[in-house]
Amino acid sequence: MEQFRINGGTKLTGEYKLAGAKNAVLPILAATIVTGNESKIESCPELSDVQTMFTILTELGCKITKEEDGVIIDSAPIHSYTIPEHLMREMRSSVFLMGPMIARCGKVTLSYPGGCEIGLRPIDIHLSALKKLGVTIKEAHGFLECTADRLVGNRILLDFPSVGATENVMLAATAAEGETTIINPAKEPEIIDLQNFLNACGAEIRGAGTGEIFIRGKKSYNQVEHRVIPDRIEGGTVLTAVAITGGNVVLRNAIPEHMSMTLSKLKEAGCRIREGKDYVVLFSPARLKAVETIKTQPYPGFPTDMQSQFLTLMTMAQGTSIITETIFESRFKHIEELRKMGARIKVDGRTAVVSGVKNLAGARVISRDLRGGASLVIAGLGAEGETIVENICHIDRGYDKFELALRKIGADIRREPTVDMY
Ligand code: UD1
Repeated sequence: MEQFRINGGTKLTGEYKLAGAKNAVLPILAATIVTGNESKIESCPELSDVQTMFTILTELGCKITKEEDGVIIDSAPIHSYTIPEHLMREMRSSVFLMGPMIARCGKVTLSYPGGCEIGLRPIDIHLSALKKLGVTIKEAHGFLECTADRLVGNRILLDFPSVGATENVMLAATAAEGETTIINPAKEPEIIDLQNFLNACGAEIRGAGTGEIFIRGKKSYNQVEHRVIPDRIEGGTVLTAVAITGGNVVLRNAIPEHMSMTLSKLKEAGCRIREGKDYVVLFSPARLKAVETIKTQPYPGFPTDMQSQFLTLMTMAQGTSIITETIFESRFKHIEELRKMGARIKVDGRTAVVSGVKNLAGARVISRDLRGGASLVIAGLGAEGETIVENICHIDRGYDKFELALRKIGADIRREPTVDMY
């Protein structure tokens, strides 16, 4: 087990370059299965979730070659149809291996997926949508056995614009006869990146990012090289980290349009923002202002993946903020830890009322999920004195050597082993 030791209170300044997006690369890695060919993925972030996906792909038979500027996945030699249970439990994203495995092999066996402990996270929308394409799903003892002799395109209405379910249907439909229409799909930029990857392989998909996606199935797919979009959530995390310290930063390799709701809330908090084609500059105010209301929503609304970080920023703002989490029911686990640092937060169901304080005080805190963990790092950077964030394996799932990247903009943070005191 490892922890971060942070000495807070230093203003972060400088330039920070964003890595490829975790939530784009994971479905794209799964999508390489569909092609039965070689795919080169550039700007692939070095995250533990990505490593888990590599392990799963290797178990299935894919050949993976890492090169300096990217990773090559050859999915031609796939010979296994079972996703090992321990890997499935390690990462929620493994659920969207269903679509590509069915498209390519007509079958797959997997257990219910794991992932962050941020709520129930059922997969009913995935399952009912796949059934509409002709997939038979048998559920027993926590395992799902999915088979399809033939996939047939259909009109599929999603009850909720689930990101993973949209991706799963897009992937399965690449091998379906005729056209599939997804109505009420997720509109996240990562869905558009998946469409771009698949179309570069020869797929016929249009509509990603809008209210309907159309997929025409194909029999074969070609080799491809694809560069993953920058991580808008890493971008938002760094901007809030800089803002809580009162610093200034230039975010490079950014797509400001993907971050517009986060940037708009940072402006409401008093930050000055300048946007270019592929960069964002943030100047912090002398004292942050409370943003009256924030409600997480599917894209283009305020991202649930930025809720923990923004809530943390608001703990040091002047005034009261009301933050409502509508996507995941257990995404307030960082609040108890923030209270140890002097934050004043009341929770009523899915709403948190944050009364800003002038200073947070360093403390020993525990990271319980990916974004909540990142938010404790932010709190530590803004606090007076020393903060220790334990259980940072959650943070490593989504941030590539976060401490080294933050040190480049002046953060006093280091990684060390956690010594068991009991
Ligand atoms: C993806 C992102 C995650 C982000 C989330 C919402 C990846 C790898 N992860 O997760 O970082 O927080 O989108 O932006 O891209 N739901 C159901 N039934 C289903 C599917 C989902 O009830 O079959 C519910 C979930 O429990 C949750 C909500 O829908 O309450 C959103 O889930 P979804 O959009 O599917 O998120 P993920 O794809 O898991």
